[in-house]
Amino acid sequence: MRTDTGQVFKLEDYRPSDYLIPLTELSFRLSPDATEVKAVLTIERRDGVATTAPLVLDGDGLLLKKLEIDGTPLAQSTYTVTPDRLEIAHPPEAKRFKLTIETEVAPVHNEALMGLYLSNGVYCTQCEAEGFRRITYFLDRPDILSVYTVRVEAPKAEAPQLLSNGNPLERGEMADGWHYAVWHDPFPKPSYLFALVAGSLGIVNDRFVTRSGREVELGIYVEHGKEKLADYAMDALKRSMKWDEDVFGCEYDLDVFNIVAVSDFNMGAMENKGLNVFNDKYVLADAETATDADFANIEAIIAHEYFHNWTGNRITCRDWFQLCLKEGLTVFRDHEFSADQRSRPVKRIAEVRTLRAHQFPEDQGPLAHPVRPRRYREINNFYTATVYEKGSEVVRMIRTVLGPEAFRAGMDLYLKRHDGEAATIEDFLKAFEDASGRDLSQFALWYHQAGTPNLTVSSAYNAAAREFTIEIEQSVPPTPSESRKRLMHIPLAFGLVGADGRDMVYESVEGATVDDGVIHVRKRRHSIRFSGIAERPALSLNRGFSAPITLSVEQKTEDRIFLSGHDSDPVARWQAFNTLLTEALIAASRQIRGGKRPVFSDRLSALAGQIACDDALEQAYRALALALPGEADIAREIGNDIDPDAIFAAREALAKRIAEENGPSLRDLYERLRDNGEFSPDAAGAGRRALRNALLDYLALLTDGASLAADHFRLAANMTDRAAALTVLAHRHSGTPQATGALASFESRYANDPLVMDKWFLVQASVPGAQTVETVRRLTSHRGFSMSNPNRVRALVGTFANANQTGFHRADGEGYRFFGEMVLEAERRNPQLAARLATAMRSWRSLEAGRRDKARATLLAISGTEGLSTDLRDIVERMLA
Ligand code: PHE
Ligand code: ZN
Repeated sequence: MRTDTGQVFKLEDYRPSDYLIPLTELSFRLSPDATEVKAVLTIERRDGVATTAPLVLDGDGLLLKKLEIDGTPLAQSTYTVTPDRLEIAHPPEAKRFKLTIETEVAPVHNEALMGLYLSNGVYCTQCEAEGFRRITYFLDRPDILSVYTVRVEAPKAEAPQLLSNGNPLERGEMADGWHYAVWHDPFPKPSYLFALVAGSLGIVNDRFVTRSGREVELGIYVEHGKEKLADYAMDALKRSMKWDEDVFGCEYDLDVFNIVAVSDFNMGAMENKGLNVFNDKYVLADAETATDADFANIEAIIAHEYFHNWTGNRITCRDWFQLCLKEGLTVFRDHEFSADQRSRPVKRIAEVRTLRAHQFPEDQGPLAHPVRPRRYREINNFYTATVYEKGSEVVRMIRTVLGPEAFRAGMDLYLKRHDGEAATIEDFLKAFEDASGRDLSQFALWYHQAGTPNLTVSSAYNAAAREFTIEIEQSVPPTPSESRKRLMHIPLAFGLVGADGRDMVYESVEGATVDDGVIHVRKRRHSIRFSGIAERPALSLNRGFSAPITLSVEQKTEDRIFLSGHDSDPVARWQAFNTLLTEALIAASRQIRGGKRPVFSDRLSALAGQIACDDALEQAYRALALALPGEADIAREIGNDIDPDAIFAAREALAKRIAEENGPSLRDLYERLRDNGEFSPDAAGAGRRALRNALLDYLALLTDGASLAADHFRLAANMTDRAAALTVLAHRHSGTPQATGALASFESRYANDPLVMDKWFLVQASVPGAQTVETVRRLTSHRGFSMSNPNRVRALVGTFANANQTGFHRADGEGYRFFGEMVLEAERRNPQLAARLATAMRSWRSLEAGRRDKARATLLAISGTEGLSTDLRDIVERMLA
């Protein structure tokens, strides 16, 4: 583990390196505790660089065995080496020379899961962002593009499959039962895209013919016996390849495309050129073991990594400050793909919910940073919701601002102009400016300025003048190290909804540029006047969630109710109802905190019942509408002095009220939605299950709810229904024989399937209430749990901290104390995992005083620990700052 040096990396310090590495030849002799790595690097001095410039290569915990230049060993006095750095003071004067480096690494002891490590006996690598330097000394930065040839040697019995990037060149037998394979990747790539996999794996094969006729061999490698579980992923891959040709004109460029599923992985998956490595959670699925959400995630992540082949690999990032160049853009692309494969509005609402749940708290707390940060201490800590999700929203806004044709022209230009290069956000924006002739300089602030902009909106109707006026004021709240903000360009999609539910047509508008249903907010204040308006409209704002902002709108409850039933934009329609629910829940939680009983209007529960039973609406949409705002969402809306217990009680009371007011009709619908036996993971099937399970959640609050949920569990024919019933039982009927029985039956059925057991850990870690911290502590000794597997840690400890407001924020601070211990425990093996886990405390300052003090004490205890990793120290110190 690297301990913190306090070094801060700054965007403005970027400078091209003195040397380039046009060719990289690697050979690996694999062994668990002493893998020999030989790197032959063709080094080239950049034009104009003095021959006296030293060559400084990055390392991380390396052991140097041998060093040669052009075949001659280097004298000890001519270089300096530490595990983290190799400096050759006087490289040869020739422009080009060959540097041979031999290092030795121990994959079996690599618990950080960066560099070369072993997962379930399979050798695999993870190099993004700075893992390659844990394999050999290198210019480990994304603007060094090199053509790789890789030879892998291993005992044939242990590792019949030997994989690396690019196309297979050659393979053969060696002495003593060893064999080898050689791979060549013709596309110059940065070191973070290097990958190697060797092991004994089951293989699923298929084929894809690209639009220009290239035949591509597709392979998905999984644990033996799990081949069937890769069918869905393979199907998603082929659909992704086709979609990228159709929608972005991007065609695949190698003869093979391989995906390997491993069980120990820090993130979701990795886009290594021609050899994607996946967390197996995002590959393996069937009806018995995966929920509809799992299927949707697999589809999205398979697409995401595949799409990186162009946005990330063919065009990569100049430096890590530009991470959003590949990530924000690729998330946007995978969102569009999923929207095309499933229901566009439902997908969009789900995106909005995710953005609010993950990115808003980040942007509104101590970890806020611009989509393109200017500083970092540890780049691993910048794989954030802001870079990914807000980064995607920014790309979406470019499309909204330019329109779909100019957007596509800009993309085409970007892909053509920068193919084979390491680019910047400026390059990206310039392509859109050049293709459209538009000026995006104010828009560019979305990349440079942190914080969630807010629009305060009010409106008035003047019947005599037939005019409707909207007053808009923008503000961007201060964020760490950015106290003063500049005015942004916010594309605000809107509609003036008439009594018949149709959008009203206006004669003219003044006060802002308004085109194609979008108000372009660019100034601090706009007073926008629409003329020729015959009646008072209901104002629908931020349709399609056109901008990632918060809105403070003065709006009549009447209008919100009307929009909940009639807005033609499904996202705004969902939002109108969700806002009604949120307002009611905030009021109720205040009442509860004041010692009163919460009061809800009859109309709200009636509206919930209507939406549930409105067959004109998509089932998945109805399920989303029925899901009450989460406790964390409500807390975020309240903003400060948060009492999680009051919020929980308010939410329970409203759920109960909705269930009681609509019992018979919800029950009737629940019966009608019964399974017809056939399972299909597509949007229609998933929508039906989502709605039925949302109904179960309400019905479980009524008399006999526990036995209804127990029947649902017993009769479930797929994991979606089974997991939903298990959650309802464990959360709403904790401790009953039905809940205990279901947990036991689930455990015995899936004891040998770690990915499914994660669901079992997750359900228990999220049981509301003060006692859960004890349950979770006990489960850390369960035989299925392991502190060194990131999926296990996230399922149990991560869920407890992120998805259990009443348990984690227990008033006596025990939740935080336990969590602090777990973070430190994880950190000893895997700093990246620990740092990510720790971000669960990012909103600690918004808690009420008692909890806030206890949370601070835990953060101080972590930061007071000696020898912390850069990863964890960076996160904890920023949270405390
Ligand atoms: N680049 C990966 C993705 O988003 C994420 C990742 C980052 C994976 C760092 C591993 C390590 O597709
Ligand atoms: Zn990505």
